[in-house]
Amino acid sequence: MSVRIAPSVLSADLGRLRDQVEQAIAGGAEWIHVDVMDGDFVPNLTFGAPIIRALRRITDRPLDVHLMVRHPERYVAEYADAGANVFTFHPEATVHVQRHLASVREQGMLAGLALNPSTPLALAEEVIGDLDLVLVMSVNPGYGGQSYLPQATDKIRRVRALLGARRSPAVLEVDGGITAATITEAWGAGADTFVAGTAVFGSADPAAAVRELQRRCAVTV
Ligand code: DX5
Ligand code: ZN
Repeated sequence: MSVRIAPSVLSADLGRLRDQVEQAIAGGAEWIHVDVMDGDFVPNLTFGAPIIRALRRITDRPLDVHLMVRHPERYVAEYADAGANVFTFHPEATVHVQRHLASVREQGMLAGLALNPSTPLALAEEVIGDLDLVLVMSVNPGYGGQSYLPQATDKIRRVRALLGARRSPAVLEVDGGITAATITEAWGAGADTFVAGTAVFGSADPAAAVRELQRRCAVTV
């Protein structure tokens, strides 16, 4: 299994967005993670389609969009048009989760479901055939720079076992508090894709920070 690092532009210097993203990619970042927050589902407000469009002009790497908003289904067509490649939302934010996952795929994006620390795995299990990605939250979403919640490790292990049992090729992504110190634990538990905001863009050298995250996994395979 190979490691995929998805730096979150939430922690980037937006005044130097192109430069920051290019540095992360130079270090080997494969996806660019975009945290969309509505100030309601989570207590913080960030950005939407204009930033996705701007990033689309900066890079051809997959844009991994994480919606922490109520009624994410309202944005499926708009974000596909803006250039999003992965569309991940939280089951608590809407009602007809299966229908919305299917519509994300119909729009040509990968369909992801995000599980908060208190969200049971069963919600993903019920729609496993409609999922391209499971996002295990290792913090309560809303802010960058929080600490990795250790209980996420067991959740990752259980998701990996579920994907194996159901022969699902879905991506297993983890988000929140991923650093050079915590990534090996999440990797060892079976995650393959790692969101990192502060660890990458809080660093003076984002390229080196991405390489260091990858190195930590390489020494523990
Ligand atoms: C948390 C967001 C994360 C956040 C991660 O609400 O979903 O993607 O940007 O930031 P760090 O890596 O700083 O915990
Ligand atoms: Zn995120």
